[in-house]
Amino acid sequence: MHPRIRTIEDYHAAYKQAAEAPDAFWAEVAEPFTWRRKWTSVRGGAFSPEGQSTWYDGARLNITENCLDRHLATRGNKLALIFEPNDSKTRHVRYTYRELHQHVCQFANVLLNNGVEKGDRVVIYMPMIPQLAMAVLACARIGAVHSVVFAGFSSTAIADRVNDAGAEFVLTADGLNRGPKQIPVKSVVDDALQSCPGVRRVIVVEHLGWPVHMQEGRDVWYHNEAENASTTCTAEEMAAEDPLFILYTSGSTGKPKGVVHTQAGYMVWADYTFRNVFQVEENDVYWCTADIGWVTGHTYGLYGPLLAGSTTLLFEGVPTFPDAGRFWQVIDKHYVTIFYTAPTAIRSLMAAPLDHVLSYSLSSLRVLGSVGEPINAEAWHWYHQHVGKGRCPVVDTWWQTETGGIMISALAGVTPSKPAHAGLPLPGVQPVLLNQDGTEIEGNNEEGYLAIKGSWPGIIRTTWGDHERARQTYFTPYPGYYFTGDGARRDADGLYRIIGRVDDVINVSGHRFGTAEIENAINQNQFVIESAVVGYPHDVKGQGIYAYVILEGALPASHAEAQVIEASIIETVVAEIGKIAKPDKIQLVSGLPKTRSGKIMRRILRKVAEGETSSLGDTTTLLDPAIVDEILAGKK
Ligand code: PRX
Repeated sequence: MHPRIRTIEDYHAAYKQAAEAPDAFWAEVAEPFTWRRKWTSVRGGAFSPEGQSTWYDGARLNITENCLDRHLATRGNKLALIFEPNDSKTRHVRYTYRELHQHVCQFANVLLNNGVEKGDRVVIYMPMIPQLAMAVLACARIGAVHSVVFAGFSSTAIADRVNDAGAEFVLTADGLNRGPKQIPVKSVVDDALQSCPGVRRVIVVEHLGWPVHMQEGRDVWYHNEAENASTTCTAEEMAAEDPLFILYTSGSTGKPKGVVHTQAGYMVWADYTFRNVFQVEENDVYWCTADIGWVTGHTYGLYGPLLAGSTTLLFEGVPTFPDAGRFWQVIDKHYVTIFYTAPTAIRSLMAAPLDHVLSYSLSSLRVLGSVGEPINAEAWHWYHQHVGKGRCPVVDTWWQTETGGIMISALAGVTPSKPAHAGLPLPGVQPVLLNQDGTEIEGNNEEGYLAIKGSWPGIIRTTWGDHERARQTYFTPYPGYYFTGDGARRDADGLYRIIGRVDDVINVSGHRFGTAEIENAINQNQFVIESAVVGYPHDVKGQGIYAYVILEGALPASHAEAQVIEASIIETVVAEIGKIAKPDKIQLVSGLPKTRSGKIMRRILRKVAEGETSSLGDTTTLLDPAIVDEILAGKK
């Protein structure tokens, strides 16, 4: 077994070995897992420009045997999962590895009894409750491909994903709690399924105890199905490169695409990065606040911790309910030792009176993590000082849905951690900075497009149903590299600082949206002819959504009329994508700055939204330069 990295010397040695002898390195890392059959080649496939690599090809395994069965002999009575409900007055629930194993097997049998077969796609739209974790693992147990859709997406967004994945099965719940609100999840699914004729079975978990509409012949209650389902279930033997899950994520063009991860490489990468980045010890209580609907919840809420035999905490609620001390109360209550959250949550809690954090001890904490967006130095220091009390290393972890797991980050307490810097790459990751023409920028104190040379076990394998799209998006912009879409800076010591996206993707509270995706949604509105969306700096969300909108007919005559139209546009976006994509600012305009060839000059729109109006650059090539003055005058 490859030893855990514990010192900076270990890190350099591991990094060197992974670069110089990757096959030997990754074979050693993979050794301790349960394999039904070992691999015939560690790394394979043509990586670029075809964009397809294989890892551990020829191996046979089941990831849930590695998450659960493998631990039963030594950790059967250890806590695998702690569930902390939305309402602090509702009692928490705890599951040992043995209990979780039984629940997953039972859920797997319910899926089998309802006709789910190996390779079938199962869309999961559920609250953050233990049954969500069980549902995901149950799919993996029987070889079904799970596709979790975050339970804040709208019915239209669900329908798009169900249809793209060709899913015949949907797992959901009656409703969910989100802070003070309750949301009728099943009825959102019902609306979605009106446009999904391929769905034949919906399995509904009872959570709120709400009455819901059950469609005869299609919908069944989980608790009825589970009554006679056995709590043992033989795990399906999977090939290393069989798909494990699809997760939809936004890019700069078109509809969100289904990022596909496979069995063996993802498993090894999730486990290796989890243990090394967080420097996990046997008795840690680990809490990742991300919803399982995002990749962070997949890799570091569920798979990573269970693969490592850790105790993972699942929280249904929000950071500010019943008050801005909730995170800290949960940490004290369950003696959380490793805490992993997003900068947007830290910034929103920073804005609350300091007493909320000072009134908790937080003495169990050992390691703090950040993910999803750049963490500004101010938030980093607040986190380090007030949450970590100055004694917990902070790991700022850079990665993406497509990378499967953490790529650039400090290893807690081992490699350098510098505010606002992700740090050094993990062993097996070879980041490069590229010029616009694709040449590598050598040396330090440099800035460029961030790309990754070569392959690593967790790399995206394809985009569901459209491999060409994956190839075009990630592997053709700079042949020989995986292109991240991010810009980065390498400091004097070789530490990487992620600057942000260099494409038309915006990152709002750690959630990724394509500007085109939001524009398409806005354009569905009855009053709208055309729109252009850009991001702008936002104190809490990182980036806010600024929409310039051209209406059918004249501009509204009154403020009141404009307000009605803006509210209607927001409603359309909520219906098309979900509340998380609501524009923060809408400016109604009579035209957009376009070149003579009809291309929108987004640079100008971005500058206006950012408030940098003194340096708009050359506007003489515009078809109608006067439009810039109108836009400036009406800036929100
Ligand atoms: O721009 C980067 C930003 O989030 C993008 C990936 O988003 P997603 O696939 O939704 O995955 C989020 C969770 C891994 C990246 O292209 N990003 C993620 N982590 C960081 C980050 N930006 C700066 N620092 C980070 N630590």
